[in-house]
Amino acid sequence: MAPRKKGRSRRSNPKKTEAHYKVQDPYFKQAKAHGYRARSAYKLKDILRKYPIVRRGDKVLDLGAAPGSFLQVLNEIGAEAVGMDLKEIEPIEGVSTIVADIFDYKPKGKFDVVTSDLMPNTTGIKFLDNEESVDLELRALQVAKKCLRDDGNAVFKIFNSNELKRFTNNARDCFREVHVFKPDAVRSTSKEIYVVCIGFKC
Ligand SMILES: C[S@@+](CC[C@H](N)C(=O)[O-])C[C@H]1O[C@@H](n2cnc3c(N)ncnc32)[C@H](O)[C@@H]1O
Repeated sequence: MAPRKKGRSRRSNPKKTEAHYKVQDPYFKQAKAHGYRARSAYKLKDILRKYPIVRRGDKVLDLGAAPGSFLQVLNEIGAEAVGMDLKEIEPIEGVSTIVADIFDYKPKGKFDVVTSDLMPNTTGIKFLDNEESVDLELRALQVAKKCLRDDGNAVFKIFNSNELKRFTNNARDCFREVHVFKPDAVRSTSKEIYVVCIGFKC
């Protein structure tokens, strides 16, 4: 058996790996330079460039919204955004926020668009992480079904796994079009993918 190399592996020091990524990552630098709270802003921008599902004046519910970079982008477009998350979100002018767990959350009123960037605390155990991700997004889909207006739109983040089909099959029952899209801003090593749903019909 080949001898193990001395020193710490990348996995044994996840914080250093994350910091290393950040220094190298052009989207991280760009987000910092433009005042976005997270590089995720560019994921939403990529999605909206390809699928312009949010218009000025739309009411948008953003699930899993902290720290708030999707909300910043939605605010720039002129949408009326409401952000909800387990964590507090630093105030953004013109945006309302709610602290809640998606599994207890009952939306009030109707929305034109729902965005969900919910992400579980990952364990590194793939099948558990995939299952948690699909559970969160199936719950986000239920919330969307309760509060979307007719012909509304939605976008959901999910880990790309066998569970993806389970999610898209559920989404197809309720939307005219369902597209699976990987924004350029998602790291090539990441399994994140977005399901873009157009034309709510339930
Ligand atoms: C990737 S972050 C979202 C980043 C955000 N879209 C942005 O642009 O700043 C995922 C978020 O999902 C939230 N989350 C995870 N589980 C949740 C739950 N059960 N209920 C509500 N929020 C949850 C986390 O607290 C975290 O803030």
